[in-house]
Amino acid sequence: MTKSDLPLSRPFAAVEPGGALHCGKVSLESLARRHGTPLYVYSADQILERLGLFQRALNGREHLICYAVKANSALAILKLLGTHGAGFDIVSGGELERVLAAAPEAVGRVVFSGVGKTAAEMDRALEAGILQFNVESEGELELLAARARKLKRVARFALRVNPDVFADTHPYISTGLREHKFGIDIRRALDIYKRVANNRWLEAYGISVHIGSQIRSAEPFGAAVERVSKLVQQLRRAGIELRVIDAGGGLGIDYHATHFDAAAKVAEYAAALETSLGGFGGTLLIEPGRFLVAQAGALVSRVVNVKRNGRKTFVITDAAMNDLIRPALYQAHHEIVPVRPQAGRAQAVDIVGPVCESGDFFARDRKLAPLAPGDLVALLDAGAYGMAQSSNYNTRMRPAEVLVEGNKARLIRRRETMADLLAPEML
Ligand code: LLP
Repeated sequence: MTKSDLPLSRPFAAVEPGGALHCGKVSLESLARRHGTPLYVYSADQILERLGLFQRALNGREHLICYAVKANSALAILKLLGTHGAGFDIVSGGELERVLAAAPEAVGRVVFSGVGKTAAEMDRALEAGILQFNVESEGELELLAARARKLKRVARFALRVNPDVFADTHPYISTGLREHKFGIDIRRALDIYKRVANNRWLEAYGISVHIGSQIRSAEPFGAAVERVSKLVQQLRRAGIELRVIDAGGGLGIDYHATHFDAAAKVAEYAAALETSLGGFGGTLLIEPGRFLVAQAGALVSRVVNVKRNGRKTFVITDAAMNDLIRPALYQAHHEIVPVRPQAGRAQAVDIVGPVCESGDFFARDRKLAPLAPGDLVALLDAGAYGMAQSSNYNTRMRPAEVLVEGNKARLIRRRETMADLLAPEML
């Protein structure tokens, strides 16, 4: 297969050669006119296509795909995924409330991860009847047992083990080494499961592992699950039968390529997990976030000004680091494309936002077709950890969000107003 035969990684493309960028059949120019900028635009079709890839790849065994809500917690996206059979991986009481608001029927498919669950968060999740608590420390397990006893509800738990597997990714999003704050040392897990085996308020239900995010190769996932599978066998010999192996999330995308074979990536990932599961006959649970939503989203922004400083050219957009922090925080790369490409020679420019920090940039020395004030640009692959990590820094109102389904676009979150921002404050 040649590069151009590979499927396009993103739903954002021109409908006619050389024409303006669309999301599927919907023009980004018309969306920007209607809803203003900066504007997040997501393709529902691509999100479902990606979910379908995982569903089909894992078809041969009992499985559950728990979308990592933190990647993009828009209610409409949660509803879309929940309706199509996904479960959810949450990390806070707030994310639980989002699931209950958007997809209450899916509450039995929720796993609760995170290193610092409070008693109140546990209570709410126990009462709501979530599937499983992914427990990150012995102290947390004690607290969970106490809350379960108090509420007279059995807590299904999985220990999140730290497999000490290295994954090649940005240090801020790597989690599987002993030096990280996440999980319980895998060598301690057997003893902990045995110790609570007779607690009637705790049900040893699964085991979980998550080694990091934006991991491009399938190999470390396989290595981590292999270690977990061995532990599951040891537990079985000790009379403890777990029903779920939760392999976490973390499968990465290609932020650079135009053509990326997502189906092949998922197949490779699923095969690595399958091989490492050995004879495990229970449910394989995974928690993908980025892979499902990143490439389905773009941040559409208007050029406010073009400024020359000596030999440097700065293209200043109305989107900033508060809307999409990934470049500033992880030196992340996002492709940036003019929505209506102008003729002329490409030039190396810095694309920056208006926030008062030198770290407020989207790209440096990027070769782009000529841009002028008023032009629109699309920052691609912004569907994951974009809006979800946005803030009101510099008292900037956060963007509106639009979901495109087939040839229809629908506002799923209105732009914030100044009144929204001032509402919680008092003089
Ligand atoms: N499960 C757990 C326990 C996690 O901590 C995470 C992500 C996921 C699943 C989903 O991982 P994914 O499939 O999305 O890689 N803000 C960063 C990424 C932080 C990831 C945190 N944990 C970024 O923009 O790259």
